[in-house]
Amino acid sequence: MVLGASSGIGCAVAAELARTGHDLVIGSRDTQKLERIAADLRLRHGVDVRVEAFDALDFASHRPLIERCAGTEGDLAGIVLSHGYMATQEKGQSDFETARRTIDVNFTSCVSVCEAVAEFFVKRGDGVICVVSSVAGDRGRQSNYIYGSSKAGLTAYLQGLRNRLAPSKVAVVTVKPGFVDTPMTYGLLKPGSRVVASPQRVAADICRGMARRKDVIYTPWFWRIIMTIICSIPERVFKKLKT
Ligand SMILES: NC(=O)c1ccc[n+]([C@@H]2O[C@H](COP(=O)([O-])OP(=O)(O)OC[C@H]3O[C@@H](n4cnc5c(N)ncnc54)[C@H](OP(=O)(O)O)[C@@H]3O)[C@@H](O)[C@H]2O)c1
Repeated sequence: MVLGASSGIGCAVAAELARTGHDLVIGSRDTQKLERIAADLRLRHGVDVRVEAFDALDFASHRPLIERCAGTEGDLAGIVLSHGYMATQEKGQSDFETARRTIDVNFTSCVSVCEAVAEFFVKRGDGVICVVSSVAGDRGRQSNYIYGSSKAGLTAYLQGLRNRLAPSKVAVVTVKPGFVDTPMTYGLLKPGSRVVASPQRVAADICRGMARRKDVIYTPWFWRIIMTIICSIPERVFKKLKT
């Protein structure tokens, strides 16, 4: 199951999973777009693709969605949460509704979905929960700290969930992409920059990481080094930097 499959990274993950022969349930709010993606994946790869409406902010709908997809057929093997929302930092600072939406889409909704799916996977005795967080959650920066803190919360939540599920055969994979060329970052990144990855490259890393049941994936890999350096800067120095 891939949530946030209508665009960017989620769409590329769905394509990569279909290419490697996995039947899929794909979800997001835009079901018309998802139907077009599903038709394309069925035709190209001969897999079964079902569309489900998913609204991250409709918390009450999450458990029934998981039960519908997992409970009746009982063969849900894994879930990828790739939905997300990023407004400008200025908008988040001046409009609390935007800040709250950022936190609720990126963090609260993932808690809601993951708890429901974890319960199912523990009963099933297996499963992979893969969630797209961000390098932005590794250190708060003045230019993006509302979005970054929603991802920091998500990363800490996934750490705890992984720790809880370690005795079972349920894997929890945290994905930390750097800059990725998707509609979310349209107009924000330098085109052609070496540090900007394609969603297809990130999706390939995600699918490989899920197959190997990795705990944390930085994608592309060099972001692990970049973030180690950024996190090692002392706070008294970091707070004075224009970041
Ligand atoms: N792009 C980057 O540089 C980058 C870097 C690090 C991490 N990330 C993370 O990677 C994930 C995917 O981002 P992306 O770059 O692929 O962004 P994107 O192209 O803008 O796609 C966002 C996806 O989230 C879904 N979505 C947004 N609000 C939703 C809501 N309220 N309910 C349900 N679905 C919702 C959208 O579907 P609908 O509009 O159809 O609902 C869409 O499928 C996000 O978690 C993002 O924070 C991105």
